Amino acid sequence: MRLVILENAEAVADFACDYFVDQLKAQPNSILGLATGSSPVALYQRLIGANQRGEVSFKDVTSFNLDEYIGLAGDHAQSYRHFMNEKLFDHIDIDKARTHVPDGAAADPNAECVRYEKEIQAAGGIDLQLLGIGVNGHIGFNEPLSSLASRTRVKTLTKSTIKANSRYFDADEFQPTDAITTGIGTILDAKEVLLLATGATKAEAVRGCVEGPVSAACPASALQMHQHAVVVVDEEAASLLS
Ligand code: F6R
Repeated sequence: MRLVILENAEAVADFACDYFVDQLKAQPNSILGLATGSSPVALYQRLIGANQRGEVSFKDVTSFNLDEYIGLAGDHAQSYRHFMNEKLFDHIDIDKARTHVPDGAAADPNAECVRYEKEIQAAGGIDLQLLGIGVNGHIGFNEPLSSLASRTRVKTLTKSTIKANSRYFDADEFQPTDAITTGIGTILDAKEVLLLATGATKAEAVRGCVEGPVSAACPASALQMHQHAVVVVDEEAASLLS
């Protein structure tokens, strides 16, 4: 694992954008693993700019998102499919047919997990996996005590995650309590991993990820076992590191 500490969130997004652009220039048909949430938004804005200026193309890219809420169809405003379309896919030259997000409305969520995991394998595996980190150390929706060998499956979200994500839902709106997530084992299979964390609220989780023992208590600590994982944080998120 490589740790990169930068001054602020803008510098983290700039670093991540350069990392993605370099990846796509070296391998235009990359299989990208993508994330939702607030952490990747500034990166996605930069990638949109780079694409629209003709500096990078996504036309041969395939993507797989980490996770999706169970109970939300892709056209639901809070679904991660909708998020990806709105924040990235609608603004770049990617072929939407090659963008993949688990189907949160699948009649059989467990079968959907098996199908999704197989689809990633059939595509040849993830070349570059983007991650955020939960305040509780989760990656994807692999909550604390998830098996470090886990594959794509249904997870019930912890109270801490439901609370952290309630900011996206209206007070009287249905907020899902379960999700389909790729597993920690699935994530560790990616050839490269880039985790972004900014702000003081992530400092404890970053400490567990970087300096804690490798333990299911902090799922992100599993990245210590990855040969090509880069953890990019701003000074606030790095503030509890020794
Ligand atoms: C999102 C995901 C989550 C988030 C994490 C951080 O697809 O899998 O693990 O990356 O919850 O969320 P933000 O970036 O909103 O703080």
